[in-house]
Amino acid sequence: MAAESDLSLELFKKFADIIHREASITLREHKLVLLSNRLRRRLRATGQTTFEEYLNYLQTHASEMRYFLEVITTNESYFWRTTANFDLLKKEILPTLLEQFPGAELKFWSAGCSTGEEPYNLAMELTEAMKTCGYFKYSILATDISASVIEFAKEGQYTGRKIEKIPPVLLYRYFRPVVDKPDHFEVRPDIKSKINFRVGNLFTEQNREIHMIFCRNVMIYFGKPEQEIIIRRFYDSLVRGGWLIIGYSESLHMIETEFKGVHFPDGVAYKKNGAT
Ligand SMILES: C[S@@+](CC[C@H](N)C(=O)[O-])C[C@H]1O[C@@H](n2cnc3c(N)ncnc32)[C@H](O)[C@@H]1O
Repeated sequence: MAAESDLSLELFKKFADIIHREASITLREHKLVLLSNRLRRRLRATGQTTFEEYLNYLQTHASEMRYFLEVITTNESYFWRTTANFDLLKKEILPTLLEQFPGAELKFWSAGCSTGEEPYNLAMELTEAMKTCGYFKYSILATDISASVIEFAKEGQYTGRKIEKIPPVLLYRYFRPVVDKPDHFEVRPDIKSKINFRVGNLFTEQNREIHMIFCRNVMIYFGKPEQEIIIRRFYDSLVRGGWLIIGYSESLHMIETEFKGVHFPDGVAYKKNGAT
């Protein structure tokens, strides 16, 4: 029986091809050990003893694809992550949107939302912002390629590291302790009701009339050609004058795009042609 660690380069390439076909993620050869380590869980879960057997299982059991793809996508997320992005939203972008689209329901999209912290955090920040900007209508679309993170997000129950950065006053304002689950907190129902969670692949889904997109810590998965495709799709999803915010360590610097980078004290945001 071959050891689980025997992931040959040839087999790695077959897995990498499937990953590219299904999720547009390019896995280079230096990720071979990483992939073999992560795939071990799936070998055990499906009762396969070698990577070759697992490849065969994957190709003959359509239901396994979702778990396979989850092995390579990293879903790390937590509340109050890179708060400068939210400061920029509240101080610079929101006032601009409210002026440009008076009375409209502002539509936000958390693209690659993982377990829901980003869209819930956004809803909480928008609700807080109403104390200074006045009431406005908004909704949030939150999508991710992974079905299991979307299920988790809909539950809206968090504990530990995921909530440790939330200022205590806001934790008690926007969450409720979960009965029978010590140290777990659930997002308030009115905040949950603002968010439409659904499974979606950034390379195939198309949204329209969005005022602002958050796509943080997602583009790092992709090579330049794939990044250009996603950024083009984001551009087409936005209203004129709409905005895109990406992760702190990401940039559109090397990418062919019509987005205009606008520098603010709290960071860069990307704007679609502002003519109305
Ligand atoms: C590191 S998490 C980022 C979560 C959140 N945006 C944040 O910054 O905290 C990256 C997410 O992107 C998702 N993802 C990767 N490829 C995707 C694709 N092609 N379409 C949609 N989501 C994708 C992963 O499943 C993962 O949940």
